[in-house]
Amino acid sequence: MITNTELEHKGNLYPAGLVSFDHDQDTVSFLSKNGVRLNITVLRDNMLRFRYATNGIFEDDFSYAVDKDHPHGFNHLKVEEHETHVVITTEKFICKVAKVDLRVGMYELTGKPIVEDELGFHWEESFEFGGNFVKMSKASKDQENFFGLGDKPTNFNLKGKRLSLWNTDQYAYGKDTAELYKAVPYYMGLHNNIGYGIFFDNTFKTHFDFCHERRNVTSFWADGGEMNYYFIYGPQLSDVLTTYTDLTGKPELPPMWALGFHQCKWSYYPESKVKEITSKFRELNFPCDAIYLDIDYMEGFRCFTWNNDYFPDPKRMVQELEEDGFKTVAIIDPGIKIDLDYSVFKEGLENDYFCRRADGPYMRGKVWPGECYFPDFTNPEVREWWSGLYRELIGEIGVKGVWNDMNEPAVMEVPGKTFPFDVRHDYDGHKCSHRKAHNVYGMQMARATYEGVKKYNFPKRPFIITRANYSGGQRYTSTWTGDNVATWEHLWLANVQIQRLCVSGMSFAGSDIGGFAEQPSGELYTRWLQLGIFHPFCRVHSSGDHGEQEPWFFGDDVLEISRKFVELRYQLLPYLYTAFYKYVEEGMPILKPLVYHDQEDVQTHYRSDEFIFGNQFLVCPIQEPNVQGRRMYFPRGKWYNFWNDTLVTGGREMWVDAPLESMPIFVKEGAIIPKYPVQQYVDEKKIEQMSLDIYYKLGKENSEFYEDSHDGYEYRQGGFSLRTFKLTGKDDEVIVQQHKHGKYASTYDTFKLTFHGVPFEIRKVFFENEEVNLEDLQYNAEDQTMIVSKDFSELHLVG
Ligand code: GLC
Repeated sequence: MITNTELEHKGNLYPAGLVSFDHDQDTVSFLSKNGVRLNITVLRDNMLRFRYATNGIFEDDFSYAVDKDHPHGFNHLKVEEHETHVVITTEKFICKVAKVDLRVGMYELTGKPIVEDELGFHWEESFEFGGNFVKMSKASKDQENFFGLGDKPTNFNLKGKRLSLWNTDQYAYGKDTAELYKAVPYYMGLHNNIGYGIFFDNTFKTHFDFCHERRNVTSFWADGGEMNYYFIYGPQLSDVLTTYTDLTGKPELPPMWALGFHQCKWSYYPESKVKEITSKFRELNFPCDAIYLDIDYMEGFRCFTWNNDYFPDPKRMVQELEEDGFKTVAIIDPGIKIDLDYSVFKEGLENDYFCRRADGPYMRGKVWPGECYFPDFTNPEVREWWSGLYRELIGEIGVKGVWNDMNEPAVMEVPGKTFPFDVRHDYDGHKCSHRKAHNVYGMQMARATYEGVKKYNFPKRPFIITRANYSGGQRYTSTWTGDNVATWEHLWLANVQIQRLCVSGMSFAGSDIGGFAEQPSGELYTRWLQLGIFHPFCRVHSSGDHGEQEPWFFGDDVLEISRKFVELRYQLLPYLYTAFYKYVEEGMPILKPLVYHDQEDVQTHYRSDEFIFGNQFLVCPIQEPNVQGRRMYFPRGKWYNFWNDTLVTGGREMWVDAPLESMPIFVKEGAIIPKYPVQQYVDEKKIEQMSLDIYYKLGKENSEFYEDSHDGYEYRQGGFSLRTFKLTGKDDEVIVQQHKHGKYASTYDTFKLTFHGVPFEIRKVFFENEEVNLEDLQYNAEDQTMIVSKDFSELHLVG
């Protein structure tokens, strides 16, 4: 490790010698002899922000990622000057800044180190572009592991990896492809049961090295901009992640149909083909909520137009699909065809909304429509215009969701597959080059789309899906993992990528089920769908170049099995919706990797096959062909096999049978799982009775069940219902207590309870302490079911 004297000798490239420090309400400022300034702002008791200016001048403070309404404020702050350090203490942890070189260390209140700077902040001048390459390196512990960074297609645990973030269109990417569609410069470190997070809010190309170059060093740097990062202390990863998600923002609840099964292909056209597909779903009783229109619905790939030969009356078609329970989602790309007879192009040109090269000409590039210009979505006026373009598509034709693609931005047939560096952007008034705006281009496009769809679909909720994104983009849109391939390795990747997105603040994510490029076998399709029904976003999509990918294409067996699993997703919709609510309210990820679920158990640190869906389902996909089961790890606690109620004690690996018609699914003991009847689409049926599956536990467990009207905004005015169930199991008793908040009136009056694993014969039942006749509850001893009023506050079973 470098010594202090060496550091001073390195002159300008490191902060050297403290001249002064100062602090006001929440910010402690340091000035070093060579002009470096460091501002440390205390945002919360567990979060500090660090900004470094090499020449003493900070950039204008502006961020696309940070939610302007993010919660901040702290309970305690003490700043003390010691001989060698300045010490900042909050209610949760201590930060020490060395006077000699501004190196920083973070410690728990007990003094245990959380993370300490190695070289700390340093920089290199960028002679080619001006500004600096800004760098930070931190010492890592031997047993330290790392998680996060968005959609990277690599091992879940990032230790040993070096990765960079530069949004890139990667058709048929592979394991370890360096750059993908999204930039989420956020990671979490974990050692000695201490978890912390780093969010490097810099939109230039960023780089992360997790003990790759040097075994005990983690570093991150950017090709420009400021060293501007947030440090978040846990020690629980769950506290780290929810704090990060608070900072960068949470989405609104999606309409529930967006959580149904979606079918997509490049492309379904003409109208008769679309109808043939949707009718077939209904004919085969295969649930489906949305059908997608890829680029061929447009006239020559011109956004916001329709090909009238293929779709003579889009409004009627969309309406008819809607009557059949299908929402229509249409693709919109950023490239606008250069064509003076095309109104969108003309408007963009007249108003100077397109990106320009540094010397003045428009940025010209080839995408699906041929030569295009590209709106500068970092200009608020352009976003306003773009959102207005949805008036007809959403407001009149009735399309319910928009799919934004190619927004890395992708450009064909050019080196780098994107805009040249010199292209200019407004960046909300902070004019800059593409080097700085590249990673937020897609996010700002999705943001403008979200505004438009929300406006014209109001009072219904918008649904947006984007391929490119940046931290904070979860406020506007869902996402998918782009152009994957129909291989077993990609099924493995999809599992890792969606878990990674979930711990990167972007839970509303899914993969192209079955693979986009090439064609899956029936077996691969089935196994992938089995995983996909547990992903927050569940869509089959394929390029269509290699054959069909509808569930009936692979023969009757696959159809049967697939239907069974999609039906399971529809039954679990109230459970998934509750998990979504927890994400929207608290920033809790919808999928929880095992390390997130139980970080104390070091067995989980390198696990990524198994994950927790919501709070109480343990799921493990089958990722290999020709197998009848697999070994999997069970986290600590006890888990019921979903298929046969066998109870497994966790903290160990075990073999689980899983022939093609099955997969390993387990439910946490004590869980109470809300279930809907199978429907062909959301709101097909009025729910007359709600099912609750109650899994016995000797001990206590809490469960939640959130409901509202599935769409619209009444939930914001109290039009929701949140039920908390407390289960207490004893040797010959089960007590279930219910507390309800909110004023949403459910459509049903009763719960059908199904008990699993109750170890005694139920002889007596008490409601609010009064004994009730078992017959009155239609008690069925064989199925372990009974019907009760939905508003009970205490139910007591006695053996
Ligand atoms: C891109 C998208 C893909 C889409 C295709 C045509 O490759 O990733 O999902 O189908 O473009 O629009």
